[in-house]
Amino acid sequence: MNAIGIYGNRLPEMERVLETLCTRIGESRARMKAQTGMDPVEHVLARIKSEESMREKCRRKGLPETAQSALEVIHDALGIRVVCAFLDDVYALRNDLARMSDVEIINEKDYIRRAKPNGYRSYHMILRFQGYFAEIQLRTISMDTWAALEHHMKYKKSLGGSAALIEQELKRCADELASTDVTMQTIRNMIFEEGGEAQ
Ligand code: GTP
Ligand code: MG
Repeated sequence: MNAIGIYGNRLPEMERVLETLCTRIGESRARMKAQTGMDPVEHVLARIKSEESMREKCRRKGLPETAQSALEVIHDALGIRVVCAFLDDVYALRNDLARMSDVEIINEKDYIRRAKPNGYRSYHMILRFQGYFAEIQLRTISMDTWAALEHHMKYKKSLGGSAALIEQELKRCADELASTDVTMQTIRNMIFEEGGEAQ
């Protein structure tokens, strides 16, 4: 690995931009918490795509391994995953981000309303912020747990004959979790209606 790396001298600025974007999400979170009395966010993970993964992605997409490819063609050098307790929080946060005047939405994929065939669910946004692209993944705790397990499975090469059954069971599990997310949201709505405004 060379000393400069695929991001060249942009890395310090990328770190600063990622941190600023996290601060913005933190401000959204605080605002929503003040309004509802409930924290919409369970946890937030931010990362700059590693040198190795970025180079691998450039090769996979037939792109030269340059800062130009990494920062202008590929849009997830900066990534933030926001894990929420409830479904409505995912969409509320999405709307709050969309309202920010210096955040431009480049693309959105609602894999919650339209799950991937394997059962994957999340709300994905590609943003342009302070000169950089960033991928935001918004999901519930259930979706996050499922994605972690499914990701792990993808890298298990030794599954052999049970792979198809595992895929089928994972898909079933994803659908059950999605149904539970809807029920949990309904229960929360009932509690709110019963108790009026939260303290
Ligand atoms: P690239 O995969 O980045 O080339 O772009 P894409 O257009 O396929 O993006 P997509 O929105 O489908 O996926 C982007 C990211 O979402 C991935 O890098 C993963 O972090 C996550 N993701 C997408 N699909 C899956 C999935 O089936 N399982 C898991 N565990 N994660 C997924
Ligand atoms: Mg992909």
